[in-house]
Amino acid sequence: NLMGTNNYKDIKDSDVIIVTAGVPRKPGMTRDDLLSTNLKIIKQVAEGIKKNSPNAFVICITNPLDVIVMALQKYSGLQTAKVVGMAGILDSSRFKYFISKELNVPVKNINALVLGGHGDTMVPLLNHTTVNGKPLKQLVAEEKLNLIVEKTRKGGAEIIKFLEKGSAFYAPAASGIEMAESYIKNLKKTLPCAAYLNGEYGVKNLYAGVPVIIGNKGAEKVIEIDLDESEKKNFELSILAVKNLFSAAIKIDKDLAN
Ligand code: 2OP
Repeated sequence: NLMGTNNYKDIKDSDVIIVTAGVPRKPGMTRDDLLSTNLKIIKQVAEGIKKNSPNAFVICITNPLDVIVMALQKYSGLQTAKVVGMAGILDSSRFKYFISKELNVPVKNINALVLGGHGDTMVPLLNHTTVNGKPLKQLVAEEKLNLIVEKTRKGGAEIIKFLEKGSAFYAPAASGIEMAESYIKNLKKTLPCAAYLNGEYGVKNLYAGVPVIIGNKGAEKVIEIDLDESEKKNFELSILAVKNLFSAAIKIDKDLAN
């Protein structure tokens, strides 16, 4: 039984809850501009989940993603493994799409990942991307690669510009469903998601985009891949951006400090 609702009674004892509550960006806004409005909304949502469906696997889609999913986990008190954020699959799809257009190859021949926060500092892993098994860097010149990274980071904003009154919905929905399916069917797929980090990648007590195995226990294991120097530097910058935004969230609501 799959349903959309804005009534907490309907979510009673759900297996999976996908949270989209919150306002989207307007043209020209960054995801971070939504913090104070969506934080208030997510507090209520977290309380509704805690009361009605504390054993659910919760997939958050609300922006600014990493900070909102962390707030959702803290407000709801659910296990960290049962609360994840959707971003990496979407960002990786956009990254692959731009590469496929550049090289005129099918998306399915491209192996690529985007990690870090779901914001303007997200990190497409250039040195871990292959096309038909060949390293991307051998196929596309550096200037073009930089453009592809920029387009990936701005992909969400570009759609908002076209839609004017809303943000992307189709690809985010498909990405959320892939995560839900891996949980429900215990597929144990490794998917890039915003997951709770407890020392992995040198990050503690923070949500950010990393590859994670999703099975019937939720986010079962964070996969640590070896980042090279420039990927590591960019990942750290992205983590810093998420940390700073979470500090801003604590200023808005001290309940988040614990
Ligand atoms: C996006 O990137 C909505 O943040 C989402 O389109």
